[in-house]
Amino acid sequence: MSRVFVGRRRELSEARRLLGDARLLTLAGAGGVGKTRLALRLAAEVRRTFPDGVWLADLAPLQDGELVPQTVIAALGLQDHSARVPVDTLLEYLADKRLLLVLDNCEHVLDACAILAAKLLSEAEALRILATSRQFLNVEGEQVLEVPPLSVPDPDRLSAGGSFIEYEAVRLFAERAAAVVPRFAITAGNGAVVARLCQGLDGIPLAIELAAVRLRVLSVEQMLERLDDRYRLLTGGCRTALERHQTLRAAIEWSYDLCSPREQILWERLSVFSGEFDLEAVEQTCADEDIAQQDIFETVIGLVDKSVLAREEHGSRVRYRLLETIRQYGQTHLAESGQEKPLRRRHRDYYHDLAVRAGAAVMSSRQTEWLQRLRLLPNIRVALDFCLTEPGQAQAGLQIASTLQYYWLFYGLLREARQWLTRALKLDPRPTVIRSKALSAAAFIHLLQGDTDGALALRDEGNALARQLDDGRALAHATHICAMAAWAQGDLHDAIPLLTEALERARTDGDDPTETFIDQLFLAMTTALLGDGRSAARSAETLAAAESAGAEWSIAWGRWALGLHHFVQGDNRHATGLFQDALRLHRTFSNQWGYAWCTEALAWTAATDGQHERASRLLGATEATLRTIGGMGGFKLFAVAHERCETQLRHAVGDDAYAAALQRGTDLSPDQAVAYALGGQATTLSPAPSPTRAPAVLTPRERQVADLIAQGLSNKQIATKLVIASRTAEGHVENILTKLGFTSRTQIATWAAARERPVNEQPNGGWGREP
Ligand SMILES: Nc1ncnc2c1ncn2[C@@H]1O[C@H](COP(=O)(O)OP(=O)(O)OP(=O)(O)O)[C@@H](O)[C@H]1O
Ligand SMILES: [Mg+2]
Repeated sequence: MSRVFVGRRRELSEARRLLGDARLLTLAGAGGVGKTRLALRLAAEVRRTFPDGVWLADLAPLQDGELVPQTVIAALGLQDHSARVPVDTLLEYLADKRLLLVLDNCEHVLDACAILAAKLLSEAEALRILATSRQFLNVEGEQVLEVPPLSVPDPDRLSAGGSFIEYEAVRLFAERAAAVVPRFAITAGNGAVVARLCQGLDGIPLAIELAAVRLRVLSVEQMLERLDDRYRLLTGGCRTALERHQTLRAAIEWSYDLCSPREQILWERLSVFSGEFDLEAVEQTCADEDIAQQDIFETVIGLVDKSVLAREEHGSRVRYRLLETIRQYGQTHLAESGQEKPLRRRHRDYYHDLAVRAGAAVMSSRQTEWLQRLRLLPNIRVALDFCLTEPGQAQAGLQIASTLQYYWLFYGLLREARQWLTRALKLDPRPTVIRSKALSAAAFIHLLQGDTDGALALRDEGNALARQLDDGRALAHATHICAMAAWAQGDLHDAIPLLTEALERARTDGDDPTETFIDQLFLAMTTALLGDGRSAARSAETLAAAESAGAEWSIAWGRWALGLHHFVQGDNRHATGLFQDALRLHRTFSNQWGYAWCTEALAWTAATDGQHERASRLLGATEATLRTIGGMGGFKLFAVAHERCETQLRHAVGDDAYAAALQRGTDLSPDQAVAYALGGQATTLSPAPSPTRAPAVLTPRERQVADLIAQGLSNKQIATKLVIASRTAEGHVENILTKLGFTSRTQIATWAAARERPVNEQPNGGWGREP
């Protein structure tokens, strides 16, 4: 489709003026009148006046108003991993932003848009919203600009023989006509006829575009005659919106009638898609005894030629989309044809299959490619919606939502994933392996969101189900979650046997290589954190597994885990290099979760290297990222490590210098933060006066207990030795862990053994070092 923009000077200047005064401007008007096009143009023109940018949320593909806030979050390029209400995520992010948010095609989710706009505008003071909608939003402070059709010559001018090309509708026709018949131009000879045609089409750009295509087979005169016969609409003058709507409908109908029967059927069928789709999807979904699969390609070409189908290129892939008005027309026909249900089922089957293929590619070098490809998420949503609204289809819904587990994570759509899974789990309680996988996926998402209680309930259900089923795959899923839950709660010692078992089961009986990798990864991290002698081998193995699979995300995490091993061993140079490598990889697919973990880990190494400014800034950068994605999730250990690093820095440079450096980090944009983290040395802040070691925080008895731990004694042995009850000994150990911010006995042992040595000689095994 040609993309030349025609006219609209008056509307643009009016819209700019209104947008200067009002915080919400709605471009309202009939379907196909050019609201979206005008909004995009306006957005491009005013871009410079919004330091935080102009962002477009396309709401046309949505079926459900509930998804509006999430769509906006995604449109802003944010990833939210938290269990927060999406609106809160938006408010948090938009609070101090000077940006323009474009909400395109609000009409079918009008209430949700109105509520969201009102809320955002009332709390984000510098925010402006530009909406397009067939109906205005009816929000306080809203300014509405009725988008008129393109200008057409009036009958008087016509008879006086004016310069037709001055009129927008004529210009658009000429533009589009030239794309069909290369030498087409408006001349003294054809000008009046074109003008009458444009008038007959009420100056509606979509109608004009559809008409221009017909030049391939008809002259303008012939077209005019037919239009005349057909609608007798050439009375001129100003029409009401309703009449314009009829004109457009007539224009679309006319296009429809000009399609071959096969094209008509395909047009109807294509209306099951939402947003963009590709040829493969059309072939798999729309072919049957009425249209053979091998005819689909030709038929698609026919529809593109007739401007029914818009063609869009994304890198090396071509995708298609239907303009909303055209889709709706097709949908009406589809509903009448009685074919809707079988078609929606085939659509679901195709996207179900696609989801399974994507799920299988998570641990492969094609994972990034799939990440791009699955941007066809609106269709995944349609498929899920079918599963959850058609009786007896929920099992497929469970599978789609759970097989896409990691994609939801990569896209920052955990909340949505959780909603789908929760609904599907409730709808279909049958004890199946798919359910066990879905329970595992849901539990993992709860953990990532920091909802440990929710995760534990799902874990228990998964365990019970696995026992009931007595199936190796289900047992693998259940053990995986048990291990993850233990880890998330900071029970490293408990996690080791669970992770070992989970890994074993995943390898022998499991059906998900990603689960295997994650078990392996967490085992590597756990042994590293505990300073366990197996950690070098574990992390090397993990990285090797990731590299042989070739998936960038897994390689990034493999490097991260190896970095952690080196860090705990006190080899900061290697650790830093590996954390930076991991960050570089995360950058290739903008994984903000990955950013946070890497900048965080780089802060730990910088802090122990005495690079206080750098460490503080990196902590600030991490905090900024975490604020947008909604926290580190339920990984207690990292919260502990974060706090320890912070305490260390505060002691080193003083609260004020620390706060100032932290702020410098928080102020970095995500790109700047990544660049900074990948950069070389930063200046070292001179320490604030007397950052001498903090006074001993342990009681003499606790120190005694710590020493005994260092000698390798168990709680029971300590109790016997000190002649105290076992429970009392446990209590002392608990207190030591809390006071020192440690999570393991190994850390206490390292600390106790090393505490007489100067700080810079201690290995980082004590990153739970005495504060
Ligand atoms: N000023 C213009 N110059 C060139 N093409 C235009 C112009 N305005 C609209 N069009 C074209 O007309 C068609 C319909 O426009 P658009 O999608 O903006 O309509 P809309 O009012 O947003 O419709 P809907 O209500 O269905 O969303 C599109 O193909 C668009 O590119
Ligand atoms: Mg539109």
